[in-house]
Amino acid sequence: MAVIVTKTVDEVRSLVKEWKRKGDTIGLVPTMGYLHEGHGSLIKRAVSENDKVIVSDFVNPIQFAPSEDLSTYPKDFDADRALCEELGADLIFAPEPSEMYKEDFSTHVDVSQITEGLCGKSRPTHFRGVCTVVSKLFHISGANRAYFGQKDAQQLAVVRRMVRDLNFDIQIIGCPIIREDDGLAKSSRNTYLDDKERKAATVLYRALSEGKNLLDGGERDTGVIVEKVQEIIESEPMAKVDYVELLRWDSLENLSLVDGPVLLAVAVYIGRTRLIDNIVYSD
Ligand code: PAJ
Repeated sequence: MAVIVTKTVDEVRSLVKEWKRKGDTIGLVPTMGYLHEGHGSLIKRAVSENDKVIVSDFVNPIQFAPSEDLSTYPKDFDADRALCEELGADLIFAPEPSEMYKEDFSTHVDVSQITEGLCGKSRPTHFRGVCTVVSKLFHISGANRAYFGQKDAQQLAVVRRMVRDLNFDIQIIGCPIIREDDGLAKSSRNTYLDDKERKAATVLYRALSEGKNLLDGGERDTGVIVEKVQEIIESEPMAKVDYVELLRWDSLENLSLVDGPVLLAVAVYIGRTRLIDNIVYSD
């Protein structure tokens, strides 16, 4: 069956009403489009676990700061539609910004604490934009389950916190990071990298893998692990560290000695492109 494409909230609502009347379960995969295998893995999982799957394809302006890449964010809607169809999604919701945000839009969802560290430090308004659009998508879709990649680990933790705190009736499913053959996490933003930068970008996963080796070998001192990971990233001349952090997963609290599941997360500028990556470790 061909995937249905709509730009309007009303059309999503009327299809969802029909599906729910028949007793169908609904999975939602929120995306900003320019879909790759990482998004594909979320869609596949959603298709396998739900009767109907909605993929949202919307570059959400309110999660970008004025200095960020909203105007250059890559787009290829025909390719997105082909992938959704191939993977068996039922509906693509691709609204215009004006459909999501009326001129006098004035309501936001603000999750505190857990949004303040990691990416929240250099992107202080980002998660408010993410939580607001994700809340809207949860309401519009009426989904039973929503799928998020661990690639954006803080986003996953923040959405889980929001759903718990505000009693959203939806199950959040976290999905593993899909990588290129050389370990670079797949990302729509990888297209910004030129050949030299693309090679340099492999340093993120190399550094994280060394962190994992230390943990596997029994190192428990957070400072030692963070320092080693930072040193490896700094050995790459094209890389500039934004942060390297080792935190409790998924509360994102600081810890000095590793006990229980942890998140080792990095954000690194390669040229002008900011890349993030992480591993979750538990013994
Ligand atoms: P976007 O960057 O398009 O990512 C959509 C979803 O795909 C996110 O849950 C992200 O973690 C997941 N994803 C991206 N790359 C992945 C990879 N290599 N492996 C596994 N999953 C991956 O994240 C957003 O959009 C937006 O913030 C959004 C949640 C849609 C709100 O606007």
